[in-house]
Amino acid sequence: MSAQIIDGKAVAAALIEEVRAGVDARLAAGKRAPALAVILIGDDPASAVYVRNKKKSCEKAGIRSLAWDLPASTTQEELLAIVDQLNADNEVDGILVQLPLPEHIDPQAVIERIAPHKDVDGFHPYNMGRLAIKMPLLRPCTPRGVMTLLEKYGIDPKGKKAVIVGASNIVGRPQALEMLLARATVTVCHSATENLAAEVAAADIVVAAVGKPGFVKGEWVKPGAVVIDVGINRLADGTLAGDVEFAQASERAAFITPVPGGVGPMTIATLLQNTLDCANLHA
Ligand code: GUN
Repeated sequence: MSAQIIDGKAVAAALIEEVRAGVDARLAAGKRAPALAVILIGDDPASAVYVRNKKKSCEKAGIRSLAWDLPASTTQEELLAIVDQLNADNEVDGILVQLPLPEHIDPQAVIERIAPHKDVDGFHPYNMGRLAIKMPLLRPCTPRGVMTLLEKYGIDPKGKKAVIVGASNIVGRPQALEMLLARATVTVCHSATENLAAEVAAADIVVAAVGKPGFVKGEWVKPGAVVIDVGINRLADGTLAGDVEFAQASERAAFITPVPGGVGPMTIATLLQNTLDCANLHA
């Protein structure tokens, strides 16, 4: 069997068009375009690429993006003061602080300073808590994007066994909450998990989010399973690879996301969707 490839690029392009239509509807109703403030600190090359892509995608959707490119020497107090200013600015709907931050800044202090209704990343404990109690407001972009992909391919997690590999705050934990909300039976695996191969082998849906190339072996995948690969790892030869052994997993899975062109484009498209949602919360 050879898996059907889930085309995240195409689904993301369609989602950006949907967001664009939502923005146009706001404008037709006499409201302003949504505005997203993107704060980038320091000169991490990967972060610079992500931020550039976010700005380009905003343009496609008709969202105004406000760039704050700050030096690595920026202090936590300076950053918190900027967040306060953006929280108070009625022309700003969403605030995104690109992670990781330099060592001298506590990311949790920054995340918790963002007004929950402007938290486009959905990382604030208020928004994570809302997701945990089945009353989501703003949902973390990557896990929400994964749920959109499944929906577009007619894959309903209800009653299925979903196994999440990775328990990060950005992906693994909120992904588990999303799957639970969708009524899957959820297992979260992490570095203390004793028999990862057996856990993955039991999964109807596997989501890999560990940041290690080829960490999930193709031979672990249950025949007919759905494999969602969140990993984006740059190899020594400059190419990108996911967290799953793609070729081997494709032989067993019914559906699989490629890297690149799977979950990655969905994260950005979902950020735009969240920004529109933020704007619609405000006015
Ligand atoms: N760094 C890697 N992924 C993300 C993300 O989803 N949001 C932010 N703010 N930073 C990131």
